[in-house]
Amino acid sequence: MNPVEPTPRAGRAVRIAAVGDLHYGRAVPGSLQPWLSQMAASADIVALCGDLTDHGLPEEARLLAADLTSQLKVPTVAVLDNHDYEAGQAAEIKKILEGAGLLVLDGEHVELLGVGFAGVKGFGGGFGVHALQAWGEELIKSFVQEAVTEALKLETAIARLRTEHRVALLHYAPIDETIRGEAPEIHAFLGSSRLEEPLARHPPTAIFHGPAHHGQPLGHTRVGTPDTTSPRPCSSKRPRPVARSTSSSSSPPPPPEPPPEAAATVRPTHAAGPDRGEPSRTPGPLSRLREAVYDAWRCLP
Ligand SMILES: [Fe+2]
Repeated sequence: MNPVEPTPRAGRAVRIAAVGDLHYGRAVPGSLQPWLSQMAASADIVALCGDLTDHGLPEEARLLAADLTSQLKVPTVAVLDNHDYEAGQAAEIKKILEGAGLLVLDGEHVELLGVGFAGVKGFGGGFGVHALQAWGEELIKSFVQEAVTEALKLETAIARLRTEHRVALLHYAPIDETIRGEAPEIHAFLGSSRLEEPLARHPPTAIFHGPAHHGQPLGHTRVGTPDTTSPRPCSSKRPRPVARSTSSSSSPPPPPEPPPEAAATVRPTHAAGPDRGEPSRTPGPLSRLREAVYDAWRCLP
């Protein structure tokens, strides 16, 4: 893969393609190469939202690394998730992917082409008033503590970003809006509203996450004005931070289908200009979000 460019690209927007749940090892090796190359051809940065392998095996990671190395020629940032931890070899998987040039984040942050990324795996536990609380058995407390720890890692990472545009990259969902479509019985296992709290305190431009395979492509965090529907460039309403699921159109068991790509185009500060068709800035704490231009959710073949 090409080395990460150290500086933003002046005069143009940065296009981000995000996808989750590749589950490499389940698919036939190489079968996703055309899809990866198509994604790389249309994006400046690729973001991978966890479940990169199917059983958390190093050989699966090597297959993925080989395809990524041959197909992706753009900076690629990633987080791992539960499938990647299944065999207890997540550290080895991370090492293999980093050896292929991926930036694997686990509570860290990185700046790519002027856009800041904060990445964390996240955890489950449910949402809102129905979220699991740290009460009762030690196992329950430990479960909740894992979600709290992941949320703290996310807050630490995103608070350190100094870029105008910041992207939160997770696997578990921070809101339940994007996992609707999955069986309600498993919603609490697919995410935690504890992850939404740091995103409300440090609103990013966009949020990409998994893990729902039948979720919704777009949702909103609780921060922002209540009348916003979608942060489209032509919208006259004030956009809120969005959580965009990278939920796959495939579902276990195999065979998988290539998951849809979530694409976001963000404009670095230096690249802003009134003649490029982007919405103009407005005063206020969310004004920078108006420069986020989200393309239509589209499925690649
Ligand atoms: Fe998955």
